[in-house]
Amino acid sequence: MKQTINTFLGTYAKPTTKALVIDAETLLSSSTLVSCGVDPLNIVVLNDDTTIIEKAHRAGHLKSTTGISSAVLPSLEVEQYDIVYLDYCGFPDVRSDGFNPAYDILWCADRLADDGIMVVTFSRRATNCVEKAETMIPVSLELVKTICYSETCAMFAMILTKGGSNSRAIRDRFNRIKLDVHKRKREEDDEAVNTLLLLTEQPAPKKRKSSWKDTYDQLVKERMKHAYPEKYSLIAYYWNGRLSPGIVERKSGKRRRVLWVDHESPLDYGVADGYFPFEKHIDITDPDHDKSDYNWTYYYDTFEVVSEADMLEIKNLPIQMQREHYLQVKQRIQSAERKKEYPVLASYFGVKLA
Ligand SMILES: C[S@@+](CC[C@H](N)C(=O)[O-])C[C@H]1O[C@@H](n2cnc3c(N)ncnc32)[C@H](O)[C@@H]1O
Repeated sequence: MKQTINTFLGTYAKPTTKALVIDAETLLSSSTLVSCGVDPLNIVVLNDDTTIIEKAHRAGHLKSTTGISSAVLPSLEVEQYDIVYLDYCGFPDVRSDGFNPAYDILWCADRLADDGIMVVTFSRRATNCVEKAETMIPVSLELVKTICYSETCAMFAMILTKGGSNSRAIRDRFNRIKLDVHKRKREEDDEAVNTLLLLTEQPAPKKRKSSWKDTYDQLVKERMKHAYPEKYSLIAYYWNGRLSPGIVERKSGKRRRVLWVDHESPLDYGVADGYFPFEKHIDITDPDHDKSDYNWTYYYDTFEVVSEADMLEIKNLPIQMQREHYLQVKQRIQSAERKKEYPVLASYFGVKLA
């Protein structure tokens, strides 16, 4: 998808184009724009890593400054951008390091040229990420398309434009490029398989129709058999209209005591030290699922699953924690000062909270 988005943005490049991109060490986004004719001086690279910004300076992107985007943007020269690529890897949430995606999007929207293109990407490894991000779109921008994809983990990208009259043409162009890149990749893969088969002189294996969705549905069905979560289960629990992640600490009949591991939960550990009633286990993929209080689901079922890669990623995650891991998380939560970000369950799963 990286390649598709960079190629797509490159098709809008002109010698006069001004661009603002969050880039990585490879400088893939900025170098694609340069290869499409953009003057390196007209590309501002954003990154919080000094070595990446030094590399950007060496490549001629001299207006780039190190730092978190929300801190760097207000210090940039006043100008309009034709292309903005906010290629975040975290969630669409304000962070304690100063990152404020809604601010960034608004700042960039104000400086986006008419008919300019903006792409914003986020992680999708939490509930309602797409909805939260789409809520951040200022009225001055038009949403052309939201694309869910999996790279190192589940992600999504929003393509936005200013003006709106061009949305259809922009979407058509993106779709065409995506289909082309996909077709080319499939042909390359087929060619590699054919070469391998020629070398090994094996008959071609029969292509099996992908049934990852069936497998995933079966996994969810199996989990739905569990009426109540066991001790140390990683769950998300409906309370006051939102799903709060937690770990089941103790059981007592149909009641469970929960260690909350959600910094946004109104009931942190200590206040809610009683036992909660537990009711229905929710199939989060069911659009009609019941959001009333006390319903619960396994935490990882709350991640959006749109591909086999997502399904495999989630399949590997445990339903329950080991006691020693549970104690580590509990200790971290109890030592965290109030108002400081709680270590959320994601950190247990090794998800980098960017
Ligand atoms: C997803 S990579 C960019 C990839 C690049 N656009 C490409 O197509 O190859 C994001 C990089 O920017 C950094 N980064 C992510 N969010 C940032 C932010 N809000 N401010 C500054 N740097 C950020 C990350 O540490 C990482 O090095």
